[in-house]
Amino acid sequence: MKLAVIGLGVRMGYLLNEVFRPADPQLRVVGVIDPDKKKARARLTPTEGRSVKFCSSVRELLKQTKPDAVAIGSRCDLHTPYAVELLAEGLPLYLEKPISTSIAQAEELEKAAGTTTSKIVVSFPLRMSPLCRKVHEMIGTGVLGTAEHLLGVNYVPYGNVYFDSWYRDYQTTQGLFLQKATHDFDYLSYLAGAPIVRVAAMLSRDRVYRDSSRRKNDRDQSALFYDRLGTPETGMNEDSSSALLEFANGTQGVYTQVFYAKRDAAARGSTISGRNATISFDWYQAKIKLVRHHEPFTETISADSNLSHFGGDEALGRNFVDVVKNDAESLSPLVAGLQSVYACLAARESAHTGRFVQVRQVGGMGSSRRNGKSHHRVADHADAPGR
Ligand SMILES: NC(=O)c1ccc[n+]([C@@H]2O[C@H](COP(=O)([O-])OP(=O)(O)OC[C@H]3O[C@@H](n4cnc5c(N)ncnc54)[C@H](O)[C@@H]3O)[C@@H](O)[C@H]2O)c1
Repeated sequence: MKLAVIGLGVRMGYLLNEVFRPADPQLRVVGVIDPDKKKARARLTPTEGRSVKFCSSVRELLKQTKPDAVAIGSRCDLHTPYAVELLAEGLPLYLEKPISTSIAQAEELEKAAGTTTSKIVVSFPLRMSPLCRKVHEMIGTGVLGTAEHLLGVNYVPYGNVYFDSWYRDYQTTQGLFLQKATHDFDYLSYLAGAPIVRVAAMLSRDRVYRDSSRRKNDRDQSALFYDRLGTPETGMNEDSSSALLEFANGTQGVYTQVFYAKRDAAARGSTISGRNATISFDWYQAKIKLVRHHEPFTETISADSNLSHFGGDEALGRNFVDVVKNDAESLSPLVAGLQSVYACLAARESAHTGRFVQVRQVGGMGSSRRNGKSHHRVADHADAPGR
């Protein structure tokens, strides 16, 4: 595979060398767009480093390097503009999350997807992880009855990264629903078997992580002070956030993410209940527990641990190579990325307005609110991505 990379930073360097290359040892990076050439070059093999072309536009990249596929790993706010340009070319894409950071971006991407032949793999490793796939398979056997309720928890033990690195820049990330919950909303929808259609959310900010400008006269000196975090008025990442979720098939759920958890408080996973049983799993514990409600049996399944993104990255990488080389279907398609963005934006809006918010649906069904008004679109299936 001749691969072009846009935004060859930490994440893409890791994916390239630890995930894509093992999946395709013949892979060769032929072109890069990244203003930090020195660091980007250091992420390539010495041979690639000598032959690779650094370009300053998508047009130049495609013309000069004629890649078989493109991977986009720039920071969050640039994913959509680059993807939209590339969708017009019909090349397979690997697209980092969050795939959009505003309704306007997501709508633009959805529109561009309506006319493309590109196959897109969205970087959602959790839905691809062996643990999540196993739970999906177990739900599919009917052991629960139907999945009626999902609880998703995410106690993030590395939460400081959202306050002491570039992720603190709210203008770039647009908050931690889009940055973090985008993964969890995606795998919860995958397990529920339906998209999220309605949310009510809350978030807490400026209490644990605070901007250094607030240190003076601060009554609670136990807060964690960092530079350039912003304020609730200018926009800032949250300490924690939670959402009530309604899925299109009537299943309900609740999700919570906490960014100041540390050490053994780390937890990420879900508890899914139906009339007949409850399944819980946690990626940090690498375990699944199945409790049958009406039989005297509880089963525990252990999975291999110490896998990157719990094994999801490897599965994503293999799928991407398969899409490019064998025209396989994407197992993490654009529609999943868009649906997750719509749910995250609805959750953020609900947290700010204190109201339930309908989640816009890919293809135009449902609604999203803009400027206080409901924004309905007529279903237009010709416009739907993935077609
Ligand atoms: N899927 C996942 O699990 C996962 C994990 C980590 C990060 N991410 C996402 O990956 C993205 C990158 O994160 P990172 O930690 O690698 O950040 P990073 O800053 O290390 O990488 C971003 C790269 O983009 C480059 N860049 C800057 N301006 C650019 C431009 N105009 N055009 C092209 N490239 C440009 C930077 O020089 C840098 O090399 C983020 O959006 C993040 O949310 C996803």
